[in-house]
Amino acid sequence: MTDKISEDKITQVRDATDIVSLVSQYLSLKRSGKNYLGLCPFHSDSSPSFSVNPQNQYYYCFGCQKGGNVFNFLMEMEKMTFREALVFLAEKAGIALPSSDADSELEREKEALYFVNRWAANYFYKNLMSASGKAALDYLHRRGISNEMIKKFGLGYSLPGWDNLIQQARKDAVSPEMLLKAGLMIRKSDSAQYDRFRGRFMIPIISVHKKVLGFGGRIIQQDENQPKYINSPETAIYQKSYILFGLYQSRQAIRDQDQAIFVEGYTDLISLFQAGIHNVVATSGTALTPFQARLIKRYTENVILLYDADTAGSLAAIRGADIFLDQGLEVNIVTLPAGTDPDSFIRDYGVSDFKKLLQQPSSLIRFKINILLKKYDRSSSQGMTQIINELLSSILRIRNSIKQNLAIKEVAEYFSLEERALLQQMQTLSRSPSAQPFSREQKSSPTQTQTKTKSKYEIAEEDLLRLVFSDSKWLPEIFDYLKLDDFFDKDYRQILSYLLSIYDQDQNFDQATVLKSVSHPDVSAKISSLVNRTVDESVDRWQLFKDCVVILKKRHLENRLHNLAQQIKSAQEKETETDIYLKQYRRCQQELKAVEDRVFFKKDF
Ligand code: CTP
Ligand code: MN
Repeated sequence: MTDKISEDKITQVRDATDIVSLVSQYLSLKRSGKNYLGLCPFHSDSSPSFSVNPQNQYYYCFGCQKGGNVFNFLMEMEKMTFREALVFLAEKAGIALPSSDADSELEREKEALYFVNRWAANYFYKNLMSASGKAALDYLHRRGISNEMIKKFGLGYSLPGWDNLIQQARKDAVSPEMLLKAGLMIRKSDSAQYDRFRGRFMIPIISVHKKVLGFGGRIIQQDENQPKYINSPETAIYQKSYILFGLYQSRQAIRDQDQAIFVEGYTDLISLFQAGIHNVVATSGTALTPFQARLIKRYTENVILLYDADTAGSLAAIRGADIFLDQGLEVNIVTLPAGTDPDSFIRDYGVSDFKKLLQQPSSLIRFKINILLKKYDRSSSQGMTQIINELLSSILRIRNSIKQNLAIKEVAEYFSLEERALLQQMQTLSRSPSAQPFSREQKSSPTQTQTKTKSKYEIAEEDLLRLVFSDSKWLPEIFDYLKLDDFFDKDYRQILSYLLSIYDQDQNFDQATVLKSVSHPDVSAKISSLVNRTVDESVDRWQLFKDCVVILKKRHLENRLHNLAQQIKSAQEKETETDIYLKQYRRCQQELKAVEDRVFFKKDF
């Protein structure tokens, strides 16, 4: 865990960043008097309401009323935490942030991996563009991949010999150990080592922070003895289950269109991109994970799963869809004609036919019905029960109750069943623990607040805000330990994010300004109640602070543990990889213990 970063450093990072150039990376700004104006990236904006003030290094949207400094912008835009935004901007500005030993060792390793991967990506690119890359370049061109796409995705070529990369590394003073660590080299013994990628066109996997995390490599000459694709092994920076290929290139389009299309293959994505369809990510042939679902949720809540028509593809789609539903995403499915994939479809039928397909997605339920009918025998009561139960287990995961109802209707109509019977069965299922959707909190909290007396969590959230309104110095303290999402009360989240944005301009903000600037009546009611109930002088504030942080932190970790347990269980049922969840589970348990023992506070209060 990193140590507390001083206000000095934070200011230094903020001052080193220009808000106009930061914002310009996401939207185009036009000068207008002292300010700059553009279309707001945070709501659908028809006339430019988003203004950036270079003098005070501040943005504000007259439409959705979001505003703040460079940190807020990244927090909102990239859904970073404050610390992530700080680290990101510090790095850009070349400002070193203090960190603990264990931390910096891992950081150093990661930096070295980023470096060697970028170096390799450059080398592969140069190969492709050199005379010895002609076969590969011809191959890509034959597949209809243009030079523009090659550049955009940084595609490259690994030469066919055994040790071209190793030799180049020697020339460029890149250590063989690093090649090994990055998985670019395979070592059988001290004397026998060779390039992992040979004679393949190379696809770098690039993070949203523009780092090269690893590679996929596809053979360019059919060879029965070689797998079509090989990928970098898992490293400290490349963990397949956390990555969506293409997100670096597609996230802006995903945000703009508020929709993400999921495909399986690298080449599918590149092909769609080339055809002008930019809101795409690829799972690179792996089963979807909850991490990927959460990752995409930073950019949109609407996904279209675009999968091959074969059975493997359909089963993958079903599993994927449930994972999306668990994260509260809206899922639709488009199936391609048998024997095609997105890449081949668009090349054979053209982009307008492709767009037509996209416009008629099938609902998850309809899609699942088709598959289940193939899997079970509808005419036996046992088969029918299976079909219905599997459908209901998806429907149970739908968060929006109107949509949930529509799904029930759809099933009832299709099988000519009573809706009531289905609802009853769903209730029975929902009581069995295995059918529980992963996260409980979003569903239960809103109704609770209206009816019951306040829970300890609600009181903890409220107390933390009361502390802030007693003295603004509590604000940064809170965000050293908690994230905005740790507050379940959405008004409190709004208040806090607003306070964070003004804190930088004025660390001793006064309550009147805050009250004045808030227009929503519910929110201002909440603020005035907080302002009028500041913490009593006799209370030990550090103690109160710590108690509240522990309560909220525990809730967060316990929910996470619960979710992970579900994930492990369902992975076991599906006989897929559980290691990654188990590892996380253990880490989470350790964290929880540290919280319970209160040893995670960075300073002794
Ligand atoms: N994949 C992999 N290893 C393999 C096969 C596939 O990692 N041996 C991954 C790749 O990310 C690939 C995706 O699964 O892009 C989908 O596989 P597939 O449909 O077989 O390949 P395509 O993407 O269609 O590739 P191409 O069009 O070049 O055949
Ligand atoms: Mn293909």
